[in-house]
Formats: sequence, structure tokens, C-alpha cells
Amino acid sequence: MTSILLTGGAGYIGSHTYISLLEAGYTPVILDNFANSHPAVLERLQAITGRPAVCERGDVLDTPWVEEVLRRHRIGGVVHFAGDKAVGESVAKPLKYYRNNLGGAVSLMQAMENAGCGTLVFSSSATVYGDPQSVPIAEDAARSHTNPYGHTKLVIEDMLAAQRVAQPDWKVAVLRYFNPVGAHPSGLIGEDPSGIPNNLMPFITQVALGQRPHLQVFGSDYPTPDGTGVRDYIHVCDLAEGHVAALKVLLESGRSLSVNLGTGQGHSVLEVVRAFEAASSRPVPFQLVPRRPGDVANVYADPRLAQELLGWRATRTLAQMCADAWRWQSRNPTGYRTA
Ligand code: NAD
Ligand code: UFG
Repeated sequence: MTSILLTGGAGYIGSHTYISLLEAGYTPVILDNFANSHPAVLERLQAITGRPAVCERGDVLDTPWVEEVLRRHRIGGVVHFAGDKAVGESVAKPLKYYRNNLGGAVSLMQAMENAGCGTLVFSSSATVYGDPQSVPIAEDAARSHTNPYGHTKLVIEDMLAAQRVAQPDWKVAVLRYFNPVGAHPSGLIGEDPSGIPNNLMPFITQVALGQRPHLQVFGSDYPTPDGTGVRDYIHVCDLAEGHVAALKVLLESGRSLSVNLGTGQGHSVLEVVRAFEAASSRPVPFQLVPRRPGDVANVYADPRLAQELLGWRATRTLAQMCADAWRWQSRNPTGYRTA
């Protein structure tokens, strides 16, 4: 079966996608420098799938090496997850983001061009919609950016469009993720942020474990039903399956596309807290505090284009997202570092 290279495949979304690809009959190969992941994930993937995980350890910025990996594994398609993703850090260290995210994408695309592989799925983000004019957000909504991280996603989308003009045989799927949460139901792999989590779900799971005293709810005066921010949370396993669907379309129909991967349903911070308490039977104490700078009120996807073009839609509920996030965190209180 077709070999698929997953740059950043040891990370949160990449590791879940690895499993879905294997289940769909592809041969996934991980390429990762472990800058934001732990090699123990490879043993966990083996435990889940019953097969040793194939991993090439190195940097996507190393173009000749990536080309050699593409050739040696006879790679038929690439999913490009590798990159840095912390919005706040990108404001403090913009050059790190431009170097790793833009430089990484240029390096990978050059290696692919040299190796004669033009099939690419790219991890974009709802962040490319900036502060949306209206919800649900469809793919033709105006794009903008509010921080260097978002800027890198926007520029990479444009780089891919330019490459498709120059190389008409390239097939590219741009996947704009909304808010990935949850974990594989085995409880063996999941999100493992280093330091204080920036994102809501990992913060909640650490509060529920007693590792942090309370959640800070950023803003309770938004124009939303309960005043807290609304987002489109999507189970990471649904997201992973979306990548398989996109790759199938690229490989079988040769058609390029840009789609949202979301559920189409928004949930407020307080709804997530309540759903998590119900799923874990643990209290999640919280304090209402002022808005976080840069946050917007209400973000959720119009998921119809993905349904139409990929034949894919998210099926897992918020309750499942919370239950799976809790299983992962409660069994691995210090993430992969317990391994
Ligand atoms: P992650 O940090 O868990 O995974 C990224 C992986 O890339 C890590 O394993 C890291 O070690 C690796 N990596 C980073 N730079 C590298 C380099 N130069 N060479 C080789 N490997 C490198 O992040 P994730 O949550 O799995 O996100 C994956 C992708 O999805 C990212 O591009 C991210 O921007 C995008 N995305 C994530 C979210 C989210 O909320 N998690 C939302 C929208 C988009
Ligand atoms: N929130 C809290 N307390 C926290 C953390 C978050 O109240 O401790 C709130 C936020 O204010 C927001 C919601 O929970 O209303 C979700 O916040 P996250 O930080 O989990 O997610 P964001 O929507 O801010 O951003 C995430 C990624 C971005 C990505 C975006 C869209 O961090 O990189 O989703 O994909 F661009």
C-alpha cells in the first residue's frame, strides 16, 4: 500500500492520524525531531497497532535528508504536521515561527519536488479566519491573521497555491482544523503539553487531577449565551479520519481542496467544564477572569464542504471528547514522561 510520510507524526494530531492511516491500509512513516513530543509515543503506537512504528528522527529543515527519506521509503503522499503552534510564544519569538513553520514548509516542498512527490496534506488552522465576520465560517470567508503563528499558516496556504500553479501535477489538501481535543480511546496516546497548558482541555484535565487549583475562564462578558467564549471542539480521532479521507481524494481523484475540519457546533467554556465534570465525575473549580488578549467570542465551522468533497464528517460528541481526554490524562498524569 501507499507509503505516507507524516512530518511531525510523533505529535498530538500526527500520532492519532498514524493509527487511522494504518487502519485504512496505508503505510505511515513518521518524521519528527521530537522538539515537542516524546519518543515513548512510538512504543504506545506499537502497543495500539501491534506493529513497530517506523520513525525517521530528524529535522524537516534538512532538505537533502528529507529528500533521501522520501526516496528511500518510496513515499506516495505527505501529511505536513511539523511546526510550532503556541500563539503566545509566536508573539514573543516570531523568528522561531517564521524559521520553523515557513522554513519547514519550503524545505519540505523543495524535497518533495526533487523527489518527484507532489501529494501533500497540510495542517492549517481556523486561525486563518482571524476575527471572523460571522459564524458558521465557510471556506470562502476572508482570511487574516492576528499573530505570527497565524501569519505562518496563511503564508503557507499561499505558498502551496503558488506551487500548484507552477507544478500543475501537485495535489494539495489544506485542512483548517478548529479545536482538536480528546485522545485515542485506549488511553495510551494523547495531548502532552510541556509546561502550563495554553489550551482549554489540557488545562481542565490538569485541574481535575488536582495538579492545578482552578481553571481561569477568560472572559464572561462575550456576546454568547453564557458570556464565555464559544469554539468548535473536534475529537482528535475524527480529525485523524479527516486526513485519511483527504488523502484518498488526492490519491484517487487528483483533486486539490481547502476545507474546514470541524463539527459545525459551538460550545462555550462553561459547557465544556460541565461536560468534563460529568464525564470524569471530578469537580473542575473555576474563576471568571478578564478576557485573554487576542481571543474572539465565537468560532465554529461550516463543515459542509468537507462532507461534500471528502465524504467525511465528525461523529464523536463533546461527552466522548471529555471522557477520552480524561482517560488519557488520568492514566498518564505526567504524560509520556511516565513511560
Ligand atoms: P504537536 O506539537 O503535538 O506536533 C508537532 C510535531 O512536529 C511535534 O512532534 C514536533 O516535535 C514536530 N516538529 C516541530 N518542528 C519540527 C521540525 N522542524 N522537524 C521535525 N519535526 C518537527 O502539535 P499538534 O497539535 O499535533 O499540531 C500539528 C499541526 O497541526 C501543527 O502544524 C499545528 O500548527 C496544527 N494545528 C494544531 C491545532 C491544535 O489545536 N493542536 C489547531 C490547528 C492547527
Ligand atoms: N480558555 C479559558 N481558559 C484557559 C484556556 C482557554 O477560558 O485556561 C478559553 C479561551 O478563552 C477560548 C476557549 O477556552 O474561549 C478555547 O481556548 P484554546 O486556547 O483552547 O483555543 P483557541 O480557540 O484560543 O485556539 C486554538 C489553538 C490555535 C488555533 C485555534 C483554531 O490554540 O492555535 O484553536 O484552530 F489557531
